[in-house]
Amino acid sequence: MIKTLIKKALGHRGLMIINTRRHYDEDGLFTVHNQHFRQHPVFKAAYQRGIEANNNIDPHLEWRVHVALWAASSALAVPGDFVECGVNTGFLSSAIMGGLNWRNVAKRFYLLDTFAGPVLSQFSAEEIQRGRRKMAQDGMETGAYETSLARVRANFAEWPNALVVPGAVPDSLPALNIASVAFLHIDMNCAYPERAALEYFWNRLSPGALVLLDDYAYYGFEYQADAIDAVAQSLGFNVLSLPTGQGLIVKR
Ligand SMILES: C[S@@+](CC[C@H](N)C(=O)[O-])C[C@H]1O[C@@H](n2cnc3c(N)ncnc32)[C@H](O)[C@@H]1O
Repeated sequence: MIKTLIKKALGHRGLMIINTRRHYDEDGLFTVHNQHFRQHPVFKAAYQRGIEANNNIDPHLEWRVHVALWAASSALAVPGDFVECGVNTGFLSSAIMGGLNWRNVAKRFYLLDTFAGPVLSQFSAEEIQRGRRKMAQDGMETGAYETSLARVRANFAEWPNALVVPGAVPDSLPALNIASVAFLHIDMNCAYPERAALEYFWNRLSPGALVLLDDYAYYGFEYQADAIDAVAQSLGFNVLSLPTGQGLIVKR
């Protein structure tokens, strides 16, 4: 890996010294690029709030959280509310709300999840064959998914404008009457509800709204990416594939 990096640097830009002691190597991302965001006090406090939501377990997703914080803070200037489809313990959404001082933001953050794990009947035949449903089942049995609504509500209690909404996407969506969205985070690890959520919200996204897809570029999650690409083709937008494994859409 290191040898390959040095070879590429030599061939491309001439001799370049790469300090591999300062590398980032988490969450499927290896890079020697500048990760100075990790030292920023706002980032540090936000990330720590995410860990607290996640039963004090650090999932080591710093660069993903950095991307999410950037997208969410950019969306503050966009009319509409924030929505997350797939909340689990609230790791990412708590980091966002912690980082943005959410209590003082005149927006709502809708937090949508079954709070009972993935909906097994929503997996396609291809996903089942690929082992995605089995992974979800195993996760449910080993306690990987948050099922205590009381714990979830307690975590979000410091933000009165955070609304916990139990229920299965997409069925839970119409009753919410969300008219205008500035930031949408989709993270349900299953193609059908992810596609349905994006289709449902597309015409409700304000111009300039940001949509972050947690697993878009992750190997093993190709059916989710394929489903999103099908929506992109029919609705005419492009997804930015990020080396963190995420995908990013800006609504025009
Ligand atoms: C990977 S976790 C979400 C992680 C979360 N975004 C975080 O920051 O830690 C996926 C979540 O999606 C939820 N989920 C899966 N399918 C769903 C559906 N159809 N409707 C609502 N929630 C769903 C699961 O219950 C689970 O909590």
